[in-house]
Amino acid sequence: MLDHLTLQQKLSMVFTVDGGGTVGATPIPPGGLGSAGYLKSPTGLPALQIADAGLGLRNPSHIRPDGQAVELPSGLAVASTWSTDTARQGGSMIGGEAWHQGFNVLLAGGANLTRDPRGGRNFEYAGEDPLLTGKIVGATISGIQSQNVISTLKHYAMNDLETSRMTLSADIDNAAMRESDLLAFEIAVETGHPGAVMCAYNRVNDIYACENPYLLTTVLKDDWKYPGFVMSDWGGTRSSFRAALAGLDQESAGDSTDARQYFRDILPRDVQQGRVPISRVDDMARRIIRSMYAVGLVDHPHEIAPLDVAHDMLVSQQTEEKGAVLLKNQSNLLPLDRKARIAVIGGHADVGILSGGGSTQVDPIGAPPEGVVKGPGKKEWPGDPVYFPSSPLAFMREEAPSAHITFDSGTNITQAIEAAQKADVAVVFVTQYTFEGSDAPNSMRLDGNQDALVAAVAHANPHTVVVMETGDPILMPWLPDVGAVLEAWYPGSAGGHAIARLLYGTVAPSGHLPMTFPAAAAQLAHPDIAGDGADTVFQMQFRSDQEVIYDEGSEVGYRWFDRNHAQPLFPFGYGLTYTTFQNDGLHLVQRRHNILATFTVRNTGARAGIDVPQIYVRLPDGGGRRLAGWNTVTLAPGESKGISVPLDPRILARFDAKQGRWNVASGHYTIWLASSSGDNSDSKSFKIDGFHISH
Ligand code: BGC
Repeated sequence: MLDHLTLQQKLSMVFTVDGGGTVGATPIPPGGLGSAGYLKSPTGLPALQIADAGLGLRNPSHIRPDGQAVELPSGLAVASTWSTDTARQGGSMIGGEAWHQGFNVLLAGGANLTRDPRGGRNFEYAGEDPLLTGKIVGATISGIQSQNVISTLKHYAMNDLETSRMTLSADIDNAAMRESDLLAFEIAVETGHPGAVMCAYNRVNDIYACENPYLLTTVLKDDWKYPGFVMSDWGGTRSSFRAALAGLDQESAGDSTDARQYFRDILPRDVQQGRVPISRVDDMARRIIRSMYAVGLVDHPHEIAPLDVAHDMLVSQQTEEKGAVLLKNQSNLLPLDRKARIAVIGGHADVGILSGGGSTQVDPIGAPPEGVVKGPGKKEWPGDPVYFPSSPLAFMREEAPSAHITFDSGTNITQAIEAAQKADVAVVFVTQYTFEGSDAPNSMRLDGNQDALVAAVAHANPHTVVVMETGDPILMPWLPDVGAVLEAWYPGSAGGHAIARLLYGTVAPSGHLPMTFPAAAAQLAHPDIAGDGADTVFQMQFRSDQEVIYDEGSEVGYRWFDRNHAQPLFPFGYGLTYTTFQNDGLHLVQRRHNILATFTVRNTGARAGIDVPQIYVRLPDGGGRRLAGWNTVTLAPGESKGISVPLDPRILARFDAKQGRWNVASGHYTIWLASSSGDNSDSKSFKIDGFHISH
């Protein structure tokens, strides 16, 4: 195919135009469907219809009156399942919906690590651990691509904050980056084989990610042998030959978001004048064309068809049911008794559930694009929070038809107290809206009267359950006074149904936290995000003087907490269910580069459940413990199973940036068989014979 194209045709492939998906902003280009981006390919190749789809296909109802899409629960909920099968199933749902609506490149596959628990886009990603993130995001990508549409791993790399995201320099030592953020991307690439990778807005060690030769060429294309193409984030291209030579293959929506149309207006001249060799243009075009063939865009072009909404809603619901995390359950307050009188309070639980804002926002099914709750009238992009029409209250009434279940909005605390006093159990819904373009407040507190509401209700009724719909961890000053806490994240299109089934025990929660919930912001490596909370928070993303020095290196999240002996509110990996498990008999076997942990898991409770036994390691030279592997096991009451978990050798290694290889040192490693990163009940020391892993 490449041989049949002229130089001009090849150059036409490296610049996409705005797809016109932002209503009223840019017109839809001829041939486009009205989405994030569009490329009219040379004859013989399909046009690229590029759409956001981090959690579901964005905005199809803006495009076609009959267009709709199901949204998965947030990426954190998917990661909380610790199940690559669940992630793959969710990806395949999204990919299928896209294929049936004519889109073939999805901007889906966010793998940025949670370096700060206030990150505005954490909800799109998969938490703070490179192995978990890489495996989950890789599985999502592979699910999407199983439907013959390209998935785009993003935002490469170190785009871990929203504040100053367009300009911020994330500064970090290369070896530490390889052992943390880049390892997540590396594992996602090898697991999911994404057709495209999107470079990020920010700078990394002073050089913009989309013109950073270390990131794009040395690591991604040379070390990882990535054969696909790199596209810029929308507004992320800032030069022509510098970016092309660094490894950028396609400028995205350059007509509307970039200062100049670099790859359309300037690159041809750079090629003509010899600043960019023709072989590089060939490589750019080859990579784009290769992904089209490899993922199936050419051989399996889309077919417009109605969606199987009922099926897709079920996928979303099941993901939430596996991804919600039960954080506290004193005296088995949950599951709820079907006869108990319940006071449901707050969080708009009478009409729906919250979703995260920005380019992952999907139009709700069965409601106008602005959702079922009006206001508060936020002017800056992305506007007001959108609540999907999946009411937990309505589904709770379905689960317990004979129970007396009341609703109080929670706006008046005195009335909420009265409602709680009249009930056997109070269920308070709290919400935290996070969104692209800004980070959550430094304080990590719920906004409005919500903390006061929970405290007052808990005082009025000791049987208080809190259901959290949050994009990030929050502080819980009322935690000792409430009976149960369920972290539902942003629960997705069918979230109300899933929450009701979890509360009543039709299904048991089995999620485990993919990020640490700190007890105080002071425990963090960076207690404040500089500039966060400014008057025009959204504008902060454009401030040009920002730099964050990640001197904690690869000690992200729970690794940092472990190294500093800090006690979090809830540790990474933590999650309860309606039964109990006991794990023992940890043993380690090494055969050259293959290291296997074996042990036994037993369900010691009275109902079936899913356990997530986790293996952590501490390297002989110290540092925070690291997750090296895990398994998800379903067990009937009393059942036990022998489990073996392969440990990823890169987790046991230090990256030698000079030699460009991983070194597993010979020595004694502390190994934990644990139910979370804070569980110290079972640890042993094992001797491992060292080795190197080269690329
Ligand atoms: C976001 C990307 C998104 C793109 C296109 C950017 O602002 O950072 O995640 O895919 O817009 O909508």
